[in-house]
Amino acid sequence: MRIDILCLFPETFVSPLNQSIVKRAREQGLADIVIHNIRDYTHDRHHTVDDYPYSGGPGMVLKPEPIFEAAEAVKQQIGVAEVPTILLTPQGRPFSQSVAQELALYPHLILICGHYEGFDERVCEYLATDEISIGDYVLSGGELAALVVVDAIVRLVPGVLGSEDSASSDSHSDGLLEYPQYTRPQVYRGWSVPSILLSGNHGEIAQWRRRQAILRTAKRRPELLEKGNICDEERKWILENSLNPK
Ligand code: ADE
Repeated sequence: MRIDILCLFPETFVSPLNQSIVKRAREQGLADIVIHNIRDYTHDRHHTVDDYPYSGGPGMVLKPEPIFEAAEAVKQQIGVAEVPTILLTPQGRPFSQSVAQELALYPHLILICGHYEGFDERVCEYLATDEISIGDYVLSGGELAALVVVDAIVRLVPGVLGSEDSASSDSHSDGLLEYPQYTRPQVYRGWSVPSILLSGNHGEIAQWRRRQAILRTAKRRPELLEKGNICDEERKWILENSLNPK
């Protein structure tokens, strides 16, 4: 998969893309991530990327020309006319695990990071095919949001995670939060690992984990259960156990 990121602060990406799973995916050729400075596509002496909003108002607006030219240069470079082109903006659709799964299916994506008061609306209307927000808060720019999106997508690209750390057991991959995990020592400061996990009974352990995931989701994020990820029997079990968690 290839992801081209158009931004104003390319240095932001250096360290995060050179760590851990994303670094390994890049080294293995499973993810090709290319950073472009929008400023390189300006033509004036001052490399101007923003301007005052028409009719006034606070802040500056990103000019359309360098952004269109940067995206067109990327498409020309790889010889593809249509590439999903995503703006990172607090006005976008909410990012989630299912959006990450959807985006991970594309062979190529262009992500565009905004700054200042936002993009000239013609970028949204005639260049972008999608707009994504990573949450209901305002960041100084889209770079950190792009890193979140890239990280979540890259770990879903086939071959990036080994079977031992497969994405299928991650929180949210089945619409539930993840069950509690334990490692050695068996007793730490008097706190014991649940005995079921030492039993070797794989059927019962799987059922315990599923129920713990459901219970945790019911307590912390009850709205996730409304999406119908659990059966009637499990729903009845939650009602009994949420009232009496022990
Ligand atoms: N840029 C600024 N804030 C953002 C957010 N919450 N999500 C995506 N891009 C952003």
